[in-house]
Amino acid sequence: MAEESSEREIMRRKLSYGGSIPLLGLGTFTYPIDGDSMEASIIKAIKIGYRHLDTASLYGSEEAVGKAIKKAIANKIVKREDIFVTTKLWCNEHHDPLSALNSSLKRLGLEYVDSYMIHWLVKLKPWASDMVPKEDEFDELDLETTWNHMEKCVDLGLTKTIGVSNFSSKKLLHLLDFASLPPAVNQVEMHLMWRQRKLREVCSSKNVHVTAYSPLGSPWNPYGLKNLLQHPIVHSIASKHEATPAQVALRWILSMGASAVVKSFNESRLEENMASFALKLDEQDLQEIDKLEEKKMATGEFLVNATTSQYKNIQELWDGEI
Ligand SMILES: NC(=O)c1ccc[n+]([C@@H]2O[C@H](COP(=O)([O-])OP(=O)(O)OC[C@H]3O[C@@H](n4cnc5c(N)ncnc54)[C@H](OP(=O)(O)O)[C@@H]3O)[C@@H](O)[C@H]2O)c1
Repeated sequence: MAEESSEREIMRRKLSYGGSIPLLGLGTFTYPIDGDSMEASIIKAIKIGYRHLDTASLYGSEEAVGKAIKKAIANKIVKREDIFVTTKLWCNEHHDPLSALNSSLKRLGLEYVDSYMIHWLVKLKPWASDMVPKEDEFDELDLETTWNHMEKCVDLGLTKTIGVSNFSSKKLLHLLDFASLPPAVNQVEMHLMWRQRKLREVCSSKNVHVTAYSPLGSPWNPYGLKNLLQHPIVHSIASKHEATPAQVALRWILSMGASAVVKSFNESRLEENMASFALKLDEQDLQEIDKLEEKKMATGEFLVNATTSQYKNIQELWDGEI
């Protein structure tokens, strides 16, 4: 028997090409990975109304995402075209993005994704196997060549759009100088304590949509911001609206015209996060939020070194935007 589909139709934002992106998505980066329970959580999320699933070859979650989509389609909860799937080219895949995407599609069990993005503008040797590369695993990056291959992925119908992640304003503008097909999305760290004002303005002026990752400050991570959801200003805005701190954090991102990918595999928090759409922040709330101290969490320090990386320090990696 067909399972009930969620009544909630999640809000979307039209991209410069290739359709529209749901404003709230589900992140799938976690460790250790338990594929079966992740798959069950993703199915729950789809039933609740999540329509954007964010994965990456790095995360090891593509198989669980693919199986969950397959089951949700078989149970008539959604059709393939209702779901927006993002996956990403890891740093050791720059030498052959086409093969990398084909491998991702195989793991996902899908014929196409909706967004294929460069995870970081860093090239590693193909055999670099750990997330944190060794000194001799860095390679020389040529963005024009990588992007040319990314564009071919669209031509071949393997992805609806191509995009970037962790790109500074400078990197984005450089790419736009030569791209035949522009990036539709720049997925970056963005939350109440890393507000990305300048990057948002640049992206908006170039019609590149911003998706916020770690929208709650990634409290589960050893390097995450534990104080974001605990902050007294966030708590006072939440209690004023009878909402939760997480709802304030997510609603702020949507109010800034960006979308968010938030990770939760807990049913009540999936519901809570989805309900952030109902919250309306007023001018006074936005002014209070602007007073919060800013602190970048995902510095990408593991991708810089003084000898073999093209970035000698994190200032170079972020082109000063840190
Ligand atoms: N492009 C990139 O380089 C990049 C980098 C990092 C992340 N990402 C993407 O962004 C996604 C989200 O980022 P993230 O996982 O770092 O951080 P996040 O979404 O800010 O935080 C996730 C953590 O918050 C908890 N949580 C979720 N909802 C909550 C709520 N309502 N109240 C309290 N705690 C809540 C989750 O626990 P429970 O599961 O127990 O609810 C989980 O531990 C990732 O999964 C990934 O898809 C992309």
